Amino acid sequence: ALAQETVKIGLILPMTGPFASTGRQIEAAARLYMQQQGDTVAGKKIQLIVKDDTGVADVTKRLAQELIVNDKISVMAGFGLTPLALAPAPLATQAKVPAVVMAAATATITEASPFIVRTSFTLPQATVPMAEWAAQNGIKKVVTLVSDYGPGIDAEKAFTGAFTAKGGQVENLRVPLANPDFSPFLQKVADAKPDALFVFVPSGIGAQFMKQFVERGLDKSGVKLIGPGDVTDDDILNGMGDVALGAITTQHYSAAHDSPENKAFVEAFKKANPNMRPNFMAVGGYDGMHLIYEGLKKTNGQGGQALIDAMKGTSWTSPRGPVSIDPQTRDIIQNIYVRKVERVNGELYNVEFATIPNVKDPVKAAK
Ligand code: DHB
Repeated sequence: ALAQETVKIGLILPMTGPFASTGRQIEAAARLYMQQQGDTVAGKKIQLIVKDDTGVADVTKRLAQELIVNDKISVMAGFGLTPLALAPAPLATQAKVPAVVMAAATATITEASPFIVRTSFTLPQATVPMAEWAAQNGIKKVVTLVSDYGPGIDAEKAFTGAFTAKGGQVENLRVPLANPDFSPFLQKVADAKPDALFVFVPSGIGAQFMKQFVERGLDKSGVKLIGPGDVTDDDILNGMGDVALGAITTQHYSAAHDSPENKAFVEAFKKANPNMRPNFMAVGGYDGMHLIYEGLKKTNGQGGQALIDAMKGTSWTSPRGPVSIDPQTRDIIQNIYVRKVERVNGELYNVEFATIPNVKDPVKAAK
């Protein structure tokens, strides 16, 4: 008998360094998906190869090259930050290897290669609903504070555009991505006394931000905390304490999302990883694996152009709610929820209280 053919998936993630929580969450979710669905698709054995890029884009690119040339992967996935998704994009195009972006969220990423498809989100997609909620809820003056790179700039522009269009006033501040010291920026916020502070920091960094927010006394200043949900991500939210209570954010995933699919996902994730709670990175990884499995079923295990084409238009019920892959943009269409941090059974959660259904990336929708 012929040996069973193997389909290899190269999962490139920051497993060490300041963004290791993103890697840990995505790897755990990808392994959970395979544990639940098995490691055979279309009669072929699925092999997951996990590589640590340490959060350095040159390393991501080198690892992608090695996985393509030496391991002959059918698909690559992961990509924890925007620079880490952009660096290997030309390789995906040249080698015709689909790249599933499970984390990085700058709007333009999917335009870097026709072989890129995304199961995370885009910052404009998550942010425009925040601007609309703020304008409708008595917030008139906002200071934005964002990490100074792709997704932060996307968030700043999306919020400022949508909020000023509704008559709001905005002042923009940017903080370096690497080793951020928020205190000088928070002093400016304390002096400006806005109704709300809009914050974007990447997943995992919210805890540092929150600590400095308290140290500057902003928790007692009456300045409301708003933003896309990265700052109150489910991985670190519990450690923030009561200071986080009442923060309003907009995003595509909460561990508290009330659906049978999510209850099953959270329970299985916690059982497999006893000291973790899944965040939006985990759901991006879990859904990314689902998209790969569904694509391979359609192509009978083939990668390349056939696989990326098969992924376009796929729809399913995710733990986050109903989703589909936009066949034109290869971005994910999904609900965005408005949430408030509350204590539920002794734990802090982003409790969803409103839904904006089937949101596309607004940047590409406007083109
Ligand atoms: C990106 C990284 C994050 O951790 C996040 O929460 C959002 C966006 C990024 O680099 O694209």
